[in-house]
Amino acid sequence: MTAAGRDGAQTAPACVLVIFGATGDLTRRLLVPALRNLRRDGLLAENLALIGLASRDIGDAGFRKHLRDGMEQFKAGKGDADIAWFTQRAYYLGGKFEDPGIYKALAGKLAEVEAAHHTAGNVLFYLATPPSEFAVIVEQLGKAGLTRETDGHWRRVIIEKPFGHDLPSAVALNKEILKTLDEGQIYRIDHYLGKETVQNIMVFRFANGFVEPLWNRDHIDNVRITVAETVGVEQRGRFYDQTGALRDMVPNHLFQLLTLIAMEPPSCFGADALRSEKSKVLDAVHRLSAEEARRNVVRGQYGAGIVDNKQVVPYREAPDVPRQSTTETYIAMKLAIDNWRWAGVPFYLRTGKALARRRSYITVQFKQAPLALFRDTPVERLPPNDLTLHIQPDEGVTLRFGVKIPGPTVNIDGVDLKFNYQDAFEIMPSTGYETLVYDCMTGDAALFQRADSIEAGWRVVQPVLDAWKEEGRAELPIYPAGSSGPEEANQLLSRDGRRWRAISTDGLSAGG
Ligand code: BG6
Repeated sequence: MTAAGRDGAQTAPACVLVIFGATGDLTRRLLVPALRNLRRDGLLAENLALIGLASRDIGDAGFRKHLRDGMEQFKAGKGDADIAWFTQRAYYLGGKFEDPGIYKALAGKLAEVEAAHHTAGNVLFYLATPPSEFAVIVEQLGKAGLTRETDGHWRRVIIEKPFGHDLPSAVALNKEILKTLDEGQIYRIDHYLGKETVQNIMVFRFANGFVEPLWNRDHIDNVRITVAETVGVEQRGRFYDQTGALRDMVPNHLFQLLTLIAMEPPSCFGADALRSEKSKVLDAVHRLSAEEARRNVVRGQYGAGIVDNKQVVPYREAPDVPRQSTTETYIAMKLAIDNWRWAGVPFYLRTGKALARRRSYITVQFKQAPLALFRDTPVERLPPNDLTLHIQPDEGVTLRFGVKIPGPTVNIDGVDLKFNYQDAFEIMPSTGYETLVYDCMTGDAALFQRADSIEAGWRVVQPVLDAWKEEGRAELPIYPAGSSGPEEANQLLSRDGRRWRAISTDGLSAGG
C-alpha cells in the first residue's frame, strides 16, 4: 500500500481484477460503478488491470466498449476522464467456464497483463456468475495453478450470493471450494455488509457508552427488522421462482442485520473476532419445530396492485413464473435467541417484494416504564420507547419517547429525536460494493462471510424449508401489490400485543 486516498485511507495494492461474468448485469450495474467511485476517492492502485471473462467472444475492444457504455449509463466517479483510465487497462477472454482451455489462456493473459501493468503478482478473481458456476470455476482455477500464493503474492476469490440454496448445498459448496482454496482466500459477499448504515450498527452499539447497559433482555422488549421492497420479481422469474423470499433474503441479508444487533462485543474488529461473534448468535437461534414453523412463520405472494403509481401484475403473471406458483414473495417470522442476553426477547423479521414503500429499518423497542404514575393515562397513550435504525433510504436513527403535552393537565405524547445522515455528513454516491472490493484488495475479510456463518444461517432456515416441504403445495395468502404485506404478518405480532412500525411511515418521522 502506498499513497493515501479519501479520509487518509491507504490506496489498495496493485493487482489484476479478473471478473467472471464480465458482461453481466451485476458487473455493469454495481461492480463497475464501484470501481469508478474507488478511483474517485484515490483508493485504487495506479497499477491495476482488469480482465473480463464471459461466454461471448467480444474481444478486448468489445469489453472496453461494454465498460464505457456501462460507465456512461451508471453515473459514478469523477467524470469521463476516468473512463479512459479503466479502458486502457481492460482485457477480455471469451469462453465456457468449464473449459480448461480458458484457464490456460487466462494464465497467459495474466502474465502479459502483469508485465505490462506491474501488478505485483496479486490477483483478485471476482465470481459474478450464476451460482451453478462457482464450484467449477474455483476447481479449474486451482487446476491451472492460478490460486497458488507464492512469494507474498496474494490470490483471492470473491463469491457472490446465493451461496447454496439450502443447508446441504451450502455445506457441499464450502467443501468443494475449500479443496482448492484456504478459508483466508475466500471472500463470500453479502452486499448488505457494504452498506454504511449496516456497518453503523456496530459503531452505534459499541462506540456509545449509554447503549450497552440497556442492550439486553432486562431492558429490551422486542426487536423488529423490516426489509421492504417496492420492486417485484421483474425479469428474474426463473431464478426467483426457485428461490423465494426466504432463501433470497433471510439467511443472508436479514441475518446480517440480526447478528449485528444481537452479537456480543467482539474483542476487536478483526475479521475472525467479529465473525465468530456473529456465528455464535446464529448458533443460539432456537430451531423451529414443524409446528413452530407453522405458527411463527408467515408467507405471502403479491397479487395485482399499484406500486409507485404503476399497475403491477400478480406475481403469477410475471415472465417465467408458472401460473400456479406457490413461491413466497413475502415472509415474516418470529425467532428467539436462546442465550443470556436475549432469552425471552422476540425478534420479528419481515421482508417482501412489491410493497408500499422501499424501506429497511430495525426497531428496538424498550420495555415500558412502570405505569403507576400515569394511572389516568390510557396505556395506548404512553408511547413505546422505540429506537429505530433506518438502513435505507433516509438513513439515520430515531428515538421515540414520551413528553408532556403543554397544558394544565398531564397528557403525554410521543416524539422522535432524529439523526439524519444527510444533514450531518456529505454523502458521496456509492453502490455499497466499494468497501467490499477495497477490503478484499487490502485483505480485510471482516465484512465477508466465513464458511461457518453461512452454514449457521442455513441451519436456522432449514427447518422452515423442511416444514414447507412436508406441507406440500400450500395455498399462500395473496397480498395486494402496494400494500404492507399479508394481514397474517400483523397477526403474528398482534397476538403478542405488539405491532410493526408502518412501512408507509416516512423514514425519519414517527410511526407505530
Ligand atoms: C438481493 C436479492 O440479494 O438483494 C434481491 O437477490 C433484492 O431480490 C436485493 O432485491 C435487495 O438489495 P437492496 O440493496 O436493494 O436492499
